[in-house]
Amino acid sequence: MSFDRLAPIYRAMEAVLAGNKLQRCRTAYLARTAKARKALLLGEGHGRFLVPLLQTNPLVQVTCVDASAGMLTQMKQALQRAGLDTDRVKFIHANALAWQPEESDYDLISTHFFLDCFTAEQLDALLAKLTTIAAPDATWIISDFSAPDHGLARLRARMILWSMYRFFRVVTRLPASHLVDYTERLQQQGFQLNARDTFEWGLLRADCWQRG
Ligand SMILES: C[S@@+](CC[C@H](N)C(=O)[O-])C[C@H]1O[C@@H](n2cnc3c(N)ncnc32)[C@H](O)[C@@H]1O
Repeated sequence: MSFDRLAPIYRAMEAVLAGNKLQRCRTAYLARTAKARKALLLGEGHGRFLVPLLQTNPLVQVTCVDASAGMLTQMKQALQRAGLDTDRVKFIHANALAWQPEESDYDLISTHFFLDCFTAEQLDALLAKLTTIAAPDATWIISDFSAPDHGLARLRARMILWSMYRFFRVVTRLPASHLVDYTERLQQQGFQLNARDTFEWGLLRADCWQRG
């Protein structure tokens, strides 16, 4: 699996296909990250959450883990364009499933359009690992796709998700072939859903979770 081929065009592709819709999800709960001091951004990709996080929180130290070297390059370029230096950011080029964290007590975790990359078994293993390194009162900010329960909105979402998974499986060799909902899994790990916004007929979701 690699997003390297897509990395150079990822931002443009998002702008053409989704305009500002995904960014609205990523930043929906930015205000709730104001007290964060140690953040872990997983699959952060081209840096669209990292930039506003650093701009709005002058004290946070950030670790970014991404499996794509190309995406990490895009992330660094996004910081440069925004006039932000990288001294508060640790960049880790690793597969999150195999990554051995050297630190813990992260009071903020973010996963934007990342949990949808995994199969159910992978997601279980990943969430369990992240729980061990989250602070007892950690906040977890999530953006992701979702499929509404019924009606036209469900049909629409299923068609869009079907084509998206086909595309990403061919281009990036993504292991997942369909969306696995993380909601119950995060609850089982001791997190509670504080707030959830849905957009685009329920296709897009922005969550704020709290541990403890
Ligand atoms: C769909 S993109 C989302 C990028 C960005 N977070 C966003 O909001 O658009 C998924 C990102 O997760 C990374 N990724 C996918 N699987 C991964 C894994 N197993 N370990 C680490 N990073 C991974 C990809 O390299 C890519 O940057």
